[in-house]
Amino acid sequence: MHGVNLDQLGRREAQHYGTVTLDELERRITAFGAELGMVTRFVQTNSETEFVEHLHGLEGMADGIVLNPGAWTHYSYAIRDALAIAGLPAVEVHLSDVDAREEFRRVSVVRDLCIATVKGRGPDGYRDALVRLSEELANP
Ligand code: DQA
Repeated sequence: MHGVNLDQLGRREAQHYGTVTLDELERRITAFGAELGMVTRFVQTNSETEFVEHLHGLEGMADGIVLNPGAWTHYSYAIRDALAIAGLPAVEVHLSDVDAREEFRRVSVVRDLCIATVKGRGPDGYRDALVRLSEELANP
């Protein structure tokens, strides 16, 4: 699940996000998933409401969640609450190293609901997240 402004990858600050577009990123994640025998589905929205409602609808539709909520990570208690409602194992991913940037990015209101956080690894971070999720699903 890609949150706000992640549709703009490719034109965001390359020093933090690289040059990969969201389409390319999703192709890479699909391939990472296939290597691990996982089927991946994607959503990107700039609407917090849609993001929350997508989380509400996941029950019975997915085994786990990999989410990069973008800036919502740092302050959206609505997304935090919806993630708790979803009740699925979740991994938080950030392309950039959020702990090495501005102070406000060091706060994540979803982190303690997630089984792991991957940050600063670029697109490969999504592979790490899927590996972590597949381990959790194999040994809950
Ligand atoms: C991000 C980091 C956030 O702080 C930022 O607002 C984003 C992207 C990342 O992937 O590094 O939009 O989640």
